Amino acid sequence: MNQSRSVVITGANGFVGKNVGKFLSKNGFHVIGLVRKGNEKSINFARVISSDTLSENNLVSKIKGSSALLHFIGQGRQTIDSDYEKVNVSLTKNVIKLCKKARIKKIIYISGLGVDKSSTLGYFISKYKAEQEIIHSGLDYTILRASYIIGKDDPLSKNLQRQIKKGKVMIPGSGNYRFQPIFVGDVAKVMIKSIMENSFSNKILDLAGPQTVSYNTFVRQFIGVKKIEIKKIDFKHNDW
Ligand SMILES: NC(=O)c1ccc[n+]([C@@H]2O[C@H](COP(=O)([O-])OP(=O)(O)OC[C@H]3O[C@@H](n4cnc5c(N)ncnc54)[C@H](OP(=O)(O)O)[C@@H]3O)[C@@H](O)[C@H]2O)c1
Repeated sequence: MNQSRSVVITGANGFVGKNVGKFLSKNGFHVIGLVRKGNEKSINFARVISSDTLSENNLVSKIKGSSALLHFIGQGRQTIDSDYEKVNVSLTKNVIKLCKKARIKKIIYISGLGVDKSSTLGYFISKYKAEQEIIHSGLDYTILRASYIIGKDDPLSKNLQRQIKKGKVMIPGSGNYRFQPIFVGDVAKVMIKSIMENSFSNKILDLAGPQTVSYNTFVRQFIGVKKIEIKKIDFKHNDW
């Protein structure tokens, strides 16, 4: 096996993990997918290993010598059992330790567009902390600060489809906030560059599409000509 084409993906059964994993497999990479126990059957493009904490001892020998680890575990909503600190920060620390034990020199991480040290929202703060762990790890890194990633079955589109079926689409807040959606196929191409090219070494890069749109516009274009009620709701509303 050509080691420079052997990669490990955490969160391999998530939206980005599945799409990038498939693309890498098709493009000659040997992909090892790490998934939580019970989710082993959800992917068919990679050799799958189950791991809940990414710190199990038996994991190291199974991924040793891979050329890069693509760390795609993350969560944008928190619960009592699974908060941002636990998922976005602590698991990143475990992944860094795992890379070192398994002699994987390169880590690629998806952070959020706009994350910086003055972030005030919990999700952004946790992404910033995860970035800092990676930057100070001594590993070669590419941190990609992503805007919304779209593609077949992306979580936002699925959510909007669900709301359209019910006949009413919610827009949290004013809807005037803007984002730069990027297609997941383009994200996959950037991943290959991040793995292969020295110019992506030890860099933090924005990962955004060519067009800036407001959420209002995005939703209206998504709905198209269908007659659907649009309702503005408070940001903290949980039902959208
Ligand atoms: N999609 C976007 O627009 C976007 C934008 C900016 C940044 N990002 C970041 O990109 C990464 C991938 O996003 P995505 O859209 O693919 O998200 P996703 O579909 O929700 O996938 C997240 C992955 O993380 C895993 N995960 C969550 N909590 C975990 C835990 N406690 N232990 C182990 N695994 C856990 C999930 O595993 P299970 O399947 O077992 O739940 C899933 O595989 C995330 O870090 C996200 O924050 C995404």
